[in-house]
Amino acid sequence: MSPESPALGPRGADRSVALCGVPLRGPVLNGSGTFDAIAARRAFGDALLERFPFDLFVSKTITLEPREGNPPPRLWETPAGLLNSIGLPNKGLEGFLATDLPQLAELPVPLCVSVMGFTRDELAELVERVDARDEVSLIELNVSCPNVETGLIMGADPDETARAVERLRRLCTKPLVVKLTPNAVAPGAVAAAAEGAGADAVSLVNTLKGMALHPRTRQPWLGGGSGGLSGPAIRAVALEQVAAVAGSVSIPVIGMGGIASGGDAAEFMAAGAAVIAVGTESFRDPAAGRRIGDELAGLADHGSGKHRTEGRAPAPDRGQGSGAHADPPS
Ligand SMILES: Cc1cc2nc3c(=O)[nH]c(=O)nc-3n(C[C@H](O)[C@H](O)[C@H](O)COP(=O)(O)O)c2cc1C
Repeated sequence: MSPESPALGPRGADRSVALCGVPLRGPVLNGSGTFDAIAARRAFGDALLERFPFDLFVSKTITLEPREGNPPPRLWETPAGLLNSIGLPNKGLEGFLATDLPQLAELPVPLCVSVMGFTRDELAELVERVDARDEVSLIELNVSCPNVETGLIMGADPDETARAVERLRRLCTKPLVVKLTPNAVAPGAVAAAAEGAGADAVSLVNTLKGMALHPRTRQPWLGGGSGGLSGPAIRAVALEQVAAVAGSVSIPVIGMGGIASGGDAAEFMAAGAAVIAVGTESFRDPAAGRRIGDELAGLADHGSGKHRTEGRAPAPDRGQGSGAHADPPS
């Protein structure tokens, strides 16, 4: 490998990892919905492809039918965080396959498509149709969006999650990632249920439920009423949940939630994440994924050896189980 290779760190270290058997040049993903690669390509041209900030690209969540999303305003800045109530605007499955997928397939990294269904039949159709496309390496199930009622119910309940994943597992030939909601009573139990039903990896956290009021009227600021909180404000919560989930499953954990530096990324990996994802930080700095990857590679001791990058290890260590999410001792 040449010294200029994107898989080499600042000091020439090989950063490459495999996620569920998919080779990646490094461990930095984007959080779904936080980096519009098609708009970025329009803005930056082919320079984006030459210095693409992520090692695997996760699409914005798509639904079966097109959606306009929630009414504005859709964003509110909090101390150290961002509240959003975007509401999954997207072109729908047909629009995505016809228009977006060919453009995303030109990115220099493997592609994961995020899907969300309002019923199990919808999810099945989404997964089957996306699975049939060679351009796609992995599929992520968004069962955790706090802005859409059905998503919250599915991802908040271990049995609901297991029933959905079981059916999809039979339809899907590609690695299946289940994206967990932090708004569940026991994310470790939901993760274990997803693994038991055949998920190949879990990713977490999605946004935490939050609300902002208009400073004068005291009415909800966001057009959708409440929203999802992300950014450094949620990092400590995300880190605890990643550690709890990593102790509950033997499949790889994709960790995210407020990661803004290589040091943050190293903490998530030490907590058990196999790879990490950058979300809100990319709004501040579109090149954040690359910077964080470089910083991480510059740290000698990231990763504790706890994390797993391959799915379904034969001897699950369920040491902490769902109890790992219990309150800390006072
Ligand atoms: C504006 C915005 C849009 C998002 N859209 C999606 C989405 O479409 N699907 C999804 O699974 N998560 C979505 N997320 C959640 C992120 O992928 C990520 O899980 C969350 O923001 C936590 O990471 P962060 O603190 O680094 O942003 C969105 C987050 C933001 C801020």
